[in-house]
Amino acid sequence: MIPDSFKRDLLNRVDIVDIIQRHLQLKKAGANYSACCPFHNEKSPSFTVSPSKQFYHCFGCGAHGDAIGFLMEYSGLGYIEAIKELAAGAGMTMPEFEPRFGKKKEETGPDLYELMRRAMQYYREQLKASPQAIEYLKQRGLSGQIAAHFGIGYAPDGWQNLQAAFPDYNDKSLKEVGLVIENEAGKRYDRFRDRIMFPIINQRGFVIGFGGRVIGAGEPKYLNSPETPLFEKGRELYGLPQARQAIRDAGRALVVEGYMDVVALAQHGVGYAVATLGTATTPVHVQKLLRQTDEIVFSFDGDAAGRKAAWHALEVCLPATQDSKTIRFLFLPEGEDPDSYVRSKGKAAFEDLVGHAEPLSAYLLSQLRTRTDTNTAEGRSRLVHEAKPLLKSVAAPGLQLQLLKQVADIAGMTQQEAERLCEMRSTPAPGAWQRPAPSKVARAAVKSFELRLLECVLVKPALAGELSGEIIRGDNLEAQALLGLGEYVRANPDVSSEIMLIDHFRGSPYETLLKQVRSELMILGLTPEQAEGEFRDALPGLERRRIHEQLNELQRRNKTGVLSPADIEQMNALTKRLAGLDRRPGTKRPVV
Ligand code: GTP
Ligand code: MN
Repeated sequence: MIPDSFKRDLLNRVDIVDIIQRHLQLKKAGANYSACCPFHNEKSPSFTVSPSKQFYHCFGCGAHGDAIGFLMEYSGLGYIEAIKELAAGAGMTMPEFEPRFGKKKEETGPDLYELMRRAMQYYREQLKASPQAIEYLKQRGLSGQIAAHFGIGYAPDGWQNLQAAFPDYNDKSLKEVGLVIENEAGKRYDRFRDRIMFPIINQRGFVIGFGGRVIGAGEPKYLNSPETPLFEKGRELYGLPQARQAIRDAGRALVVEGYMDVVALAQHGVGYAVATLGTATTPVHVQKLLRQTDEIVFSFDGDAAGRKAAWHALEVCLPATQDSKTIRFLFLPEGEDPDSYVRSKGKAAFEDLVGHAEPLSAYLLSQLRTRTDTNTAEGRSRLVHEAKPLLKSVAAPGLQLQLLKQVADIAGMTQQEAERLCEMRSTPAPGAWQRPAPSKVARAAVKSFELRLLECVLVKPALAGELSGEIIRGDNLEAQALLGLGEYVRANPDVSSEIMLIDHFRGSPYETLLKQVRSELMILGLTPEQAEGEFRDALPGLERRRIHEQLNELQRRNKTGVLSPADIEQMNALTKRLAGLDRRPGTKRPVV
């Protein structure tokens, strides 16, 4: 746990106005500063920063907190990451600390992240030893510095090279993280052979996967790590940690299609690019980026596949739109990708394209126009029909209204007529403060089980009584907070409101987190019935994750031959339970 004294010193040392000013334009308003709130859509500023009290507060949505809380919420950092970032900026050294509910090493099993880090080190060393791989990177225009910046390496040709890095080549964890493959005969071999290796690093700086490119021609051109406990493709963006500072400086993030695009752009001084990992854009991608910047530009190749991917990205973006943020689409000339373009035309020409990328609204309307014949009544009606689901899913109220007006215009009808056809009420009642709740699907996709449970528990504290170390595992702050709440509610069954909970945990490490969850709830407006429903929905997923962990541990011990009869019995029971859970109707995709 981070000592409270350190946190206090840190908060005394930094100025919240400075911290927030790096991200938002603050205006002096009397003793305080104000801005339009970054946490909800608004036209007039109700977000206030108090230099004397060193906190921010939004009178619109209730978001509230200190400098640590702001970084967590705004930049999507974890509690410890946020403290680290502040400490680094203030020139303070983080103290060594022990997680309060931290488990002993044996209990958590082998450290999978450590395996991946070691693999990356190994591949990087191998790159130094391979003139042929170095030559390939050079010929693609990359310097040693950029290769190092992205941790690029080389997996040599051969079937079991990783043995050099992992003396216990049979360790089941190697298979679990996707570094080795086992054939039917139980024989193991390296997944990546004779490939340039791009480590995929998450926001916390851990290696979670790899992309490997053949040198020259060959199939498949790119080989990615499979989905593993560490790596879920739809949630990750290649190059995000490396791009973070540049995204801040540029005020925008550029989303491209390939690893090489990201690296080549960085080589030419365009550091704010990230790539989806051979998957379509997901709501998680969009939300992750919108937390860090006000503008996203999606870049697509100018071919049919690129246009299809762009339309999909547009559909995914609509529910994530905010009136304070801009999303644009860039179509490269046919036959070009960002890598080839920046290499042949240079940074300035490429950035000129980015600067002129089409705004989401223009792209949407031009697509609707080309799909329908607006010279006929049928065509115009069809245009409104096709626009309807799109318009309805737009989250930003201002943008929604603008689009509606333009659709009405193109279709030759009044706004009211279009509104009625689209079954929409676009104009809020005067004075009413509205923010459409994010769709349930989008929410579920982004939030961890733990965060969802925390929301439920704040709305209906009695639910916390059901949570114990049996169900909640992991030593992230959210899991610890849940356990803390569970313990407290069991000892004090009459706790019935979030205020009592937050009050009790004031000054604890969970305070900021709980307050943030509460702010979020003010926006979402979850009823106790909905909270109970969500809570029940999330539990099977958690249990599944826990059973997988226990099974993994037992199987690991089984390899070394130390299972007792009781262990075997437990293994059978767990397997059965897992099968039962998987059969349960309506349960969600397992997250393991
Ligand atoms: P270069 O030829 O190295 O310039 O690659 P590129 O970045 O131009 O790649 P391309 O446009 O062919 O593909 C874009 C992205 O799609 C890649 O970065 C990969 O993530 C993914 N991809 C491409 N080819 C394959 C493949 O054969 N298998 C898999 N799994 N992914 C691929
Ligand atoms: Mn390319």
